[in-house]
Amino acid sequence: MTAGAWITLEGGDGSGKTTQADLLAGWLTDAGRRVVRTREPGGSEVGQLIRDIVLHHRGDIAPRAEALLYAADRAHHVATVVRPALERGDVVLQDRYLDSSVAYQGAGRVLDGTEIRDLSLWAAEGALPDLTVLLDLDPAAARERLDSADKPFDRLETEKSDFHVRVRDAYLALAAAEPERFLVLDAAASAEDIAAAIRDRVGALLAAR
Ligand code: TYD
Repeated sequence: MTAGAWITLEGGDGSGKTTQADLLAGWLTDAGRRVVRTREPGGSEVGQLIRDIVLHHRGDIAPRAEALLYAADRAHHVATVVRPALERGDVVLQDRYLDSSVAYQGAGRVLDGTEIRDLSLWAAEGALPDLTVLLDLDPAAARERLDSADKPFDRLETEKSDFHVRVRDAYLALAAAEPERFLVLDAAASAEDIAAAIRDRVGALLAAR
């Protein structure tokens, strides 16, 4: 999508995406790049309202309604935050994008993955990131990290372990299907080793521009 570069981070809850996004943002800023840090759900004002529903509503949300809420957040976010930033030539560094929907609403909630992906692509007018970093982590290890973080769980985090196993498998299948877009890293490695691997790939991406 034009002059800037768009990098998304994906992975299960507790895989360390935020830490890595912070480290990468610091490195890019030091290198003189303008960075827009953002996330889904909730990367816009409208998105904040939707985030509150999907993460904190008490009680069930029908799976298709949940899928549509994430897609609505995405449509508004891409149109009002991501696309303008890329047109300005900024680097957009984003926690989660449509691969989250395919993994969580598709494999997790057992909706059709292709339909979920098509819904997101419609919402975002076909926009796909230049690079997607998948921080892959065994769900049992992720749960230990979340437990020790001492934060209340959101609606998705409280799902049972087989949900998180399906989410992980779906992510790995997505990465295998699009190896040129994905960089898959072992999230059990040290934060510094992971950050170095991400910098290598992002450096190459920006140099090729
Ligand atoms: P967030 O607190 O941003 O998660 P984390 O810090 O774990 O990345 O919460 C996002 C939650 O929303 C997370 O559990 C995954 C879920 N999600 C979906 O189910 N579908 C989606 O399309 C997106 C973007 C997120």
